[in-house]
Amino acid sequence: MANILIVYSSTDGQTQKICHRLRVVIERQQHQVTVVSIDDVSQLDLTGFDKIVLGASIRYGHHSPQIIAFIEKNRHLLDSIPNAFFSVNLVARKPEKCTPESNPYLQKFLKRIAWKPKELAVFAGKIDYPSYSFFDRSIIRLIMWMTKGPTDPMNVVEFTDWQQVELFGQVIMEDLTAKQDCKTSPH
Ligand SMILES: Cc1cc2nc3c(=O)[nH]c(=O)nc-3n(C[C@H](O)[C@H](O)[C@H](O)COP(=O)(O)O)c2cc1C
Repeated sequence: MANILIVYSSTDGQTQKICHRLRVVIERQQHQVTVVSIDDVSQLDLTGFDKIVLGASIRYGHHSPQIIAFIEKNRHLLDSIPNAFFSVNLVARKPEKCTPESNPYLQKFLKRIAWKPKELAVFAGKIDYPSYSFFDRSIIRLIMWMTKGPTDPMNVVEFTDWQQVELFGQVIMEDLTAKQDCKTSPH
């Protein structure tokens, strides 16, 4: 059984929801999972985890500065064990921008940080117009109008592909399963 930490940065809850789905997928294979917000991660002893997964959403073009600070502070620890990063944004709803290689936010992020995550993913997020402030709703509607997305201010649209999330859960477990096999191998 491996011990996996998932740290998330989420403003409206969609990245958190994705983390909880990953937890369900991973726990099904009898691994232990801790899911924690970036706001609370400083209270946690980071040693003893077999893998660390970070997930962060995009707001006005950027991942949260907190997640970047966490990466910079814990770079050596992250590099010393299996690790992964995923980004959640609305641009990823477009088929031509939904992979780690084609998503502009993830590519920009990777250039900005020194850490090279071993596994990467991008998930399309959610629009929840009724829950946004007038300012945010107006800006997001304008961006959606320009990029041919939904603009009805009463609309809630979840673009997240949950099958893709489940597959990423499998990917997260792959190197851990290999490690466990090595541990149990007699040679
Ligand atoms: C105020 C605001 C700004 C956003 N800015 C962007 C953006 O610049 N690019 C983008 O692709 N998505 C943007 N989004 C969409 C979010 O990334 C998406 O809603 C995501 O699901 C939010 O995840 P969270 O609930 O975990 O914070 C924005 C959403 C809001 C509410």
